Amino acid sequence: MKFILSNGEQLREKLERFPFPAEFHWKFLVAKILVAAVVDEDNVVAACGVRNVLNQVTWHVREGYRGQGIGKQVLEKTIRAARERNLSFLMGTVAFDNAPSLHVTSKVGFRMLVQLKESGLVFLMCPLSLRGELAYTLLHVICPRLPNALLERIAGLVEKRIAAESGQSPALAAETERVDQKLRLSS
Ligand SMILES: CC(C)(COP(=O)(O)OP(=O)(O)OC[C@H]1O[C@@H](n2cnc3c(N)ncnc32)[C@H](O)[C@@H]1OP(=O)(O)O)[C@@H](O)C(=O)NCCC(=O)NCCS
Repeated sequence: MKFILSNGEQLREKLERFPFPAEFHWKFLVAKILVAAVVDEDNVVAACGVRNVLNQVTWHVREGYRGQGIGKQVLEKTIRAARERNLSFLMGTVAFDNAPSLHVTSKVGFRMLVQLKESGLVFLMCPLSLRGELAYTLLHVICPRLPNALLERIAGLVEKRIAAESGQSPALAAETERVDQKLRLSS
């Protein structure tokens, strides 16, 4: 297994050959930082990407490769790359019942900001600098005091903004359908 540090655009060809589930696939394609775990030269078995808006992180390990420490390694390498690029923090959202993901993120330095009751999402933040620590301290105090409905709305707007900034808005539905179709064909 080898790890490649790059970005979504540079790794597009490799990602296209073995697409991840659609909701992850396009987020990796638009990532400004992308760490990929690769076997047999071109087969990407795990990836962790950081997108532009709020440095949102997404990570995924293919079934069959989980529980071997690969998820932790791609996250750690992503954090190192983010530090080298002077990012102040990383953000993440994880479903509250996704125990392995919550476990790994807490091990590498992500801390909980707030849990959204309706969507069941937990907002996480990983401070990488003094500025990031200050932002975390502030948000950690403010977020739990805001109405859940407002936070849910902000979360939705952030997702839309990410899609729009990545030029994915109009293409997203088509891309999702295309990848799903490819996965259906290959399964
Ligand atoms: C979350 C995910 C990336 C983890 O990848 P992974 O390669 O299996 O992770 P690792 O092997 O590095 O670590 C798994 C850890 O979770 C722990 N774990 C596994 N199942 C668990 C559970 N039900 N409850 C708590 N911890 C659990 C393991 O013990 C291990 O911790 P340890 O190293 O301290 O023993 C992988 O499960 C995945 O791709 N899930 C689907 C996509 C996803 O949820 N992405 C994150 C949201 S964007």
